[in-house]
Amino acid sequence: MLMTAEELADLIRFRAGNTPVEFGLILGSGLGHLADAVEGEAIGYSELAGFPQPGVSGHNPKLVVGDLLGHRVAIFGARAHYYEHGNAAEMRVPLETLKALGAKRLLLTNAAGSLRDDLPPGELMLITDHINFAGTNPLIGEATDKRFVPLGDAYDAGMRDGLGAAARDEGIALSKGTYAWLSGPSFETPAEIRAIRMLGADAVGMSTVPEVILARFFGLEVAAISAITNMGEGLSDEKLSHEHTKQNAVAGAEKLERVIRRYLGDG
Ligand code: HPA
Repeated sequence: MLMTAEELADLIRFRAGNTPVEFGLILGSGLGHLADAVEGEAIGYSELAGFPQPGVSGHNPKLVVGDLLGHRVAIFGARAHYYEHGNAAEMRVPLETLKALGAKRLLLTNAAGSLRDDLPPGELMLITDHINFAGTNPLIGEATDKRFVPLGDAYDAGMRDGLGAAARDEGIALSKGTYAWLSGPSFETPAEIRAIRMLGADAVGMSTVPEVILARFFGLEVAAISAITNMGEGLSDEKLSHEHTKQNAVAGAEKLERVIRRYLGDG
């Protein structure tokens, strides 16, 4: 049975309590440990009709709602990707539910390939803008004029400043850059990487952009950080694989967790 976002929010409040959520967090491949630090209720996506039932290993399909460093948070331990079923709007119901729970802000993380020599694996990149190279959009089919979402300020200036300050305070380098969304699930060819780099992207990945577009549609403030797991195909000799991504996410995950904790703790 399909449930509306309001009904899902009621169910979540019944389980986790009525305190309005402030922040949503969507954690990428191998980056989900923060959810374990939350004092609260974990609800499997399988209990939430309309939430995606993710199949990518390294993702943890539960929503954790509770308290983290003085903030009420909802952590999505898994995201659905466009490449799973060809539906760019798979995260629409979760994000609408987040909005219905009272959230104002969404922080996203992902694993990404780097297109820049000064941004090697293990580094973090604060996304300041994106390029949608996937040839689709999660708002296709939305019937109202709300679909014409402006994206000039998609990545919130205040959140970016806060995350930048948090990284500085932790002594962690946080580069800034443009993230290119490609559909996947195959990795890119060396020629694609050269082309994307020439067109102004700094990192490449298979997620985040549809969620950013949906979150802006629902009026959430958004910030996103990439943990660089590899150089883009052809820029180094490493062999790319999902295993490789997950293994290399560990270095970035530790830094990412420190930046997010400092950001929440100071906010
Ligand atoms: N390309 C696309 N997605 C990715 C990559 C990459 O090189 N690394 C991690 N996610």
